[in-house]
Amino acid sequence: MTKRILSLLLAVTSFLSLRADEGMWPLTLLNKIQDKMQARGMKLSAEDIYSINNSSVKDAVVRLMQNGRMFCSGEVISDQGLFLTNHHCGYDAIQSIATPQDNILSNGFWAKSLQEERPAGFQIGMLRKVQDVTEMVFKGTKINDDETTRSQTIAANLKATQTAMLESLGEEKKNYVVDVAVFYNGNQYLAMFYEVYRDIRLVGTPPENVGKFGGETDNWRWPRHTCDFSMFRIYAGADNKPADFSKTNAPFKPKHHLPVSIKGIKEGDFAMTMGYPGRTTRNTYSEGIIYLSKKERPMRVQLRREIMDVYEEHMKADKDVRLMYSAKLAGIGNYWNKFGGEAKELSKPEIYAKRKAEEKEFENWVRTNNKSEIYGDVTSLFDEAYSELNKIGLYSVYLQDGISNSVPMTSALRMSAIYKSLQDKKSDQGKAMAAQYGAGISEMYKEFNGNIEKKVLAVVFRRLMEDLDLQYLPASLKNLATKTKNNYDLMAEMAWAKSLFADTNKLKKFCSKPSASALDKDLIFTITNQYINILRGDLAPRISEVNKKLERANRLFLAARAEMYPTTTFAPDANATMRVSYGTVKSYNARDAVKYNYFTTAKGISEKYIKGDFEFDAPDKLIELINKKDFGQYADPETGELFTCFLSDNDITGGNSGSPVINGNGELIGIAFDGNWEAIASDFGFMPNLQRTISVDIRYVLFIIDKLGGATNIINEMTLVK
Ligand code: ARG
Repeated sequence: MTKRILSLLLAVTSFLSLRADEGMWPLTLLNKIQDKMQARGMKLSAEDIYSINNSSVKDAVVRLMQNGRMFCSGEVISDQGLFLTNHHCGYDAIQSIATPQDNILSNGFWAKSLQEERPAGFQIGMLRKVQDVTEMVFKGTKINDDETTRSQTIAANLKATQTAMLESLGEEKKNYVVDVAVFYNGNQYLAMFYEVYRDIRLVGTPPENVGKFGGETDNWRWPRHTCDFSMFRIYAGADNKPADFSKTNAPFKPKHHLPVSIKGIKEGDFAMTMGYPGRTTRNTYSEGIIYLSKKERPMRVQLRREIMDVYEEHMKADKDVRLMYSAKLAGIGNYWNKFGGEAKELSKPEIYAKRKAEEKEFENWVRTNNKSEIYGDVTSLFDEAYSELNKIGLYSVYLQDGISNSVPMTSALRMSAIYKSLQDKKSDQGKAMAAQYGAGISEMYKEFNGNIEKKVLAVVFRRLMEDLDLQYLPASLKNLATKTKNNYDLMAEMAWAKSLFADTNKLKKFCSKPSASALDKDLIFTITNQYINILRGDLAPRISEVNKKLERANRLFLAARAEMYPTTTFAPDANATMRVSYGTVKSYNARDAVKYNYFTTAKGISEKYIKGDFEFDAPDKLIELINKKDFGQYADPETGELFTCFLSDNDITGGNSGSPVINGNGELIGIAFDGNWEAIASDFGFMPNLQRTISVDIRYVLFIIDKLGGATNIINEMTLVK
């Protein structure tokens, strides 16, 4: 008896102390991890998750896409094409539908019938086929060919492969996107066939102060109380195939949808995520860690923070401005937050030391195995590349985080090609292009507030002047700085005053009668145009040289590792393709004396609630329901509390947002929406003891739909497991 209890106890504790496993696993490697998953409590087989010939769990997992690019994950939860994703994933679509008169972003929205659902401006891809095309891509190349020739051949092969794959679909190709995805830093290529559905409609979203409760303060942090979900529906033509939006389209009938478990979770339960992690670089070179932590990340944090300060000041003062700038703020803020954490974490000497040790081991292996003909220059290529990035890396970063975050500068940037054509007086091409540009102005300035944008311009001017090497800055910017004695507000004022790009009426007029000389006099234009010309001119050969060195070194480093550890299967870095990650529901020790429980409850909402606050407000009705403990069938059976979010030790990253969290029976228990602060730098290295996936408990989601939204019609559509 005692022996039995003891062994039982041992079994339980060893189960709980199972170390988290690294890896966002491609479907093609599921057979390698099936046993480990089953040992953790999974009842499914690899074939149940991904089957080439039969329907499987993967058929319920979708990839959210905008113009061919993926941005989030989602899961189908009814036989009528209903799917869930995060609130922060549906945010853009929701904001676009919302108007000041019908502000569904702030009020929430629940379609009580199919007729009430609203067209949403994105598409979803369903993974239909995976094909290894490495041989086709590598054709005519050798591992250590000269990098310039090799990369040209690879680029041409890639293009041909992609075309061939698409063509292989015949008639069907009009509904497909085929991505040839790069694995193991260019050592393997897999073609991913996505059938793309383009009639997607909004079904429901909680009010913003529920779906984004806690805002940027709670973002990337535990304990969390955010109900980060929104719901959409896939529509299809009469043949259940993709179709353009039409009233006559019908809800899509999926091959598989996830049953939804309201039985709840316990510490130690099996948890699996499936979705589309965007990008990790787990083998970043030691000097890269230094570059990122000391320079690139801190600079971006500062630039983003200054822009956010401008946004927030105006958004707090005016709710229509808040609606207009909300998605922009969330976008800039999310990675402001993350980059800040990464800068701090990656500065820790042990991270650098660990990298350095691995690199030493690699160099020793090269030497003792006489491999220097192939791998001999890897570390020196890395060193050269990062030393160069230290000098010129920020120019392209500031194009992205600075110039592209200014509406007038972005629209000036789009004028660059037109300017070139206008200089050719003999051709009418410039005129035609300007007319086309003119037709797009309203769209470009849809989210534009002059008071905000003028201040953002000053921020961008300041950061360019103070952070970048003057040698490669636009002459017109430097002149303006000299004239104003580096008074950035005054610089923005002067550039703004006469600019076409600060006034859509002037810009429209210009487009009907365009001239290069008008652009020559426009400071916003000349500064932006010169910046891009320097980047594409003087700096371009240096940047391309850096990229080639990094590509080669990264590729060879992983090729060598595969040789060094021939019997180990490493999970490849995330690359926006479908991955599975398994783990268990689990608490963690955050730091000395701080242990975090694995779940939160609605009590925490009341504790954090601040009436009228920018981030911690909540609907009166929600607070009332919580006070009355009116949780219905969604309450935890033991305590009567409402679970809100929970933790598991799955290895995920951005892009996984919206991924289903699935229990051992293949049922949905939550939606992954974030990672924790202590492991904020996990894209650069897995942290088994600290790293947690933050998910919203599906019971909280259902409670919000049912009790707050009163949308029982949506609940009735699902397959609930009680
Ligand atoms: N940190 C989350 C992710 O990248 C996004 C959360 C969005 N929320 C926000 N407050 N910006 O997956």
